[in-house]
Amino acid sequence: MRVLGIETSCDETGIAVYEHGRGLLAQAVYSQIALHAEYGGVVPELASRDHIRKTLPLIQQVLAEAGLTRAQLDGVAYTAGPGLIGALLVGAALGRSLAWAWQVPAIGVHHLEGHLLAPLLEDPAPAFPFVALLVSGGHTQLVEVRGIGRYRLLGESLDDAAGEAFDKTAKILGLPYPGGPELARLAERGDPERFRFPRPMTDRPGLEFSFSGLKTFTLNTVQTELPRAADPEQTRADIARAFEEAVVETLVIKCRRALRATGHQRLILAGGVSANQRLRARMNQAITAEGGQTFYPRPALCTDNGAMIAFAGCQRLLAGQNEPLLFTPRARWPL
Ligand code: KG4
Ligand code: ZN
Repeated sequence: MRVLGIETSCDETGIAVYEHGRGLLAQAVYSQIALHAEYGGVVPELASRDHIRKTLPLIQQVLAEAGLTRAQLDGVAYTAGPGLIGALLVGAALGRSLAWAWQVPAIGVHHLEGHLLAPLLEDPAPAFPFVALLVSGGHTQLVEVRGIGRYRLLGESLDDAAGEAFDKTAKILGLPYPGGPELARLAERGDPERFRFPRPMTDRPGLEFSFSGLKTFTLNTVQTELPRAADPEQTRADIARAFEEAVVETLVIKCRRALRATGHQRLILAGGVSANQRLRARMNQAITAEGGQTFYPRPALCTDNGAMIAFAGCQRLLAGQNEPLLFTPRARWPL
């Protein structure tokens, strides 16, 4: 089975073809970062319009790269939610229409299921069951994954997602959008000993997260430290480092706790923040020290992409699921 995947839930147009038993045949991602940069964040209306411009040409490009004609496709998977409703509608309407025209089944995929299953596109792929830490711009969740479609939410953020906290903190530090990777770059030059930021919600049991306090903590530190700093550039880097250390350690503590609570050995990381090198290194260290194993998709499969949607859709179609012509994208959709 060969499936076309279409991802348009936010500010990336992601297209891919996945073939069961063979793997990814081709993929392409078009990022709208430059389009939204001057506004300091994603403008939903602009995102929808750009998806309209980019999706079809990108599908043509990916099919050409894979050396496939549309007649060689057996299904179309598109992101049905959660995400920006206008952006979702573009991918959903286009995916559903193409499937109808090509007379193949269509399937709406949950964006977070796509992220959760992305590590299975890698070799070696983790065996079920595993615990997944999903850390993106919109979500921070710990999920127990026992198989395709068998997910149990273990804990999530009560306020900001980890990526959102990175982005907002980066803004406070005067970094351009999207702030996560910029902040990580600045933090490399920072001294980890200079400031110590709190590790929210780690001193009580449970697998919930809260990151909005860290953002406020950063703001207060910036306001008190920067005006009297001898070397403001270094101080900004030190603050960025303290913030990153706090987020990383908090995530590591909760992941270790989740593995102990479920008795599983395997941990996978997914979502945009899992591209963070310090997080990957620290998590690896902590989990292997306890006899566990960590799995990460390559960075291009950590952030939004069409491959994870093609893969998840393919699994669903193989299981006999597809949907009628009437479809409902959902801005909010629990896993
Ligand atoms: O999964 P994703 O591409 O989109 C969502 O579904 O949200 O995640 C994007 C998020 C953004 O908040 C971005 O700042 C963050 O992932 N991010 C990072 C890094 N790379 C991307 N955060 C920290 N360090 C990074 N290296
Ligand atoms: Zn995502």
